[in-house]
Amino acid sequence: MPDGAELRIESIAAIPLYNGDEEAAHGIPEAVKLLKDAIAAADGLLLVTPEYNNSMPGVAKNAIDWLTRPAADIPRVFGGKPVAIAGASPGGFGTILSQNAWLPVFRTLGADLWSGGRLLVSRAGTVFDANGEITDAAVRENLRKFVAGFVGYVSVRPAS
Ligand SMILES: Cc1cc2nc3c(=O)[nH]c(=O)nc-3n(C[C@H](O)[C@H](O)[C@H](O)COP(=O)(O)O)c2cc1C
Repeated sequence: MPDGAELRIESIAAIPLYNGDEEAAHGIPEAVKLLKDAIAAADGLLLVTPEYNNSMPGVAKNAIDWLTRPAADIPRVFGGKPVAIAGASPGGFGTILSQNAWLPVFRTLGADLWSGGRLLVSRAGTVFDANGEITDAAVRENLRKFVAGFVGYVSVRPAS
């Protein structure tokens, strides 16, 4: 991350399958509330996505769907939120179709999609070591530039 910027990594592991009957009966799960508040408090959202069958993974879409409940809270969580999308995949296309599939979702939510850079990491099996560290210098540099571009964009926006 550039100096002065903080990356906070959040997990979707505790988010259950969306079920409208459950929502009506029990309200919004705690894990969903916490993640919504974390996004609302952040200056920007960096979504790092795999690609499953040439689209976004269902588990990730399920998480975003929960985060849009109740719908009246969408403007607080996503409205005008700078969003950057990145991804890595073992094949040669670096999640391009998954990244494209996310675009209408964030457009629907009124987010501020950043398109000043792209990060499509192909052949991911040759790029990371067993600890998840990037071993490929070119990919590391692409990531640095991508994040610096997004942080720069987030930083110059007027305070809301
Ligand atoms: C069901 C399934 C479908 C996948 N389909 C694609 C695909 O269409 N294109 C692609 O580049 N990678 C595909 N992958 C690989 C994923 O993008 C991803 O790199 C891999 O699953 C590791 O990430 P994960 O552990 O977060 O799922 C697929 C993986 C799974 C499990």
